[in-house]
Amino acid sequence: MNLSPQDTLKRAAAIRALDFVLDGMKLGLGTGSTAEAFLEVLAPRVKGGLNITAVATSERTAEKARILGIPLTSLDQLAPLDLTIDGADEADRNLNLIKGAGGALLREKLVASSSTQMVVIADGSKLVRRLGKFPLPVEVVEFGHGTTARRIMSVSAALGYPGLAATLRMKDGAPFRTDGGNVIYDCAFKAIKNAVKLGKALSDIPGVVDHGLFVGLATALVIARKKGVEVIERKHTIRK
Ligand code: A5P
Repeated sequence: MNLSPQDTLKRAAAIRALDFVLDGMKLGLGTGSTAEAFLEVLAPRVKGGLNITAVATSERTAEKARILGIPLTSLDQLAPLDLTIDGADEADRNLNLIKGAGGALLREKLVASSSTQMVVIADGSKLVRRLGKFPLPVEVVEFGHGTTARRIMSVSAALGYPGLAATLRMKDGAPFRTDGGNVIYDCAFKAIKNAVKLGKALSDIPGVVDHGLFVGLATALVIARKKGVEVIERKHTIRK
């Protein structure tokens, strides 16, 4: 296997995350290239007799898991889950995250919030001092999405983010569609001062389905760098 340096780090984080997986566990499987690296290291364990059942957070992950022989079922059949393993676009040392570059943020949040543990795996480039440099994905229903986007901008201005650039995500010349059939606005907050406050304000806007701020969900962050793998664990978990 010829992996790029970044893919080698993603794989190292994925391998370390296997330590969290115990026989008999009910797992949530994340979306994205790092989450897929985890599927690749999990599959041989499953073939070797590890007994797990899983829920995928996207059609893409489900397809890959099926090809690799990882047993899948629905969230409704499996919840509550023991452990979700997923990637992130940004993570801070308090285990707050921005997710959703792959467009799977809604199912990712549903699955993570149904899990006792959420282990986030990433290469060192994802660890930040403050969230927000990566544009925050906000999933919005298609009906009146331009109006909802304007409301996102005005609510954000009132919270101290004036002139927010909210860009409709496109794919192949048309608005990108999530697995749930919604559209996404990528919102360039640049530096998020209070993730809880911003998340709540966004969730309160009619037409907003969900946003990529994951606060109080991750229980561990596995960060792989050239010099080694660091695991940052949360002492107290908040579960709604
Ligand atoms: C998918 O919607 C995202 O939340 C991914 O988990 C995130 O974008 C990380 O993806 P990579 O591992 O590909 O960077």
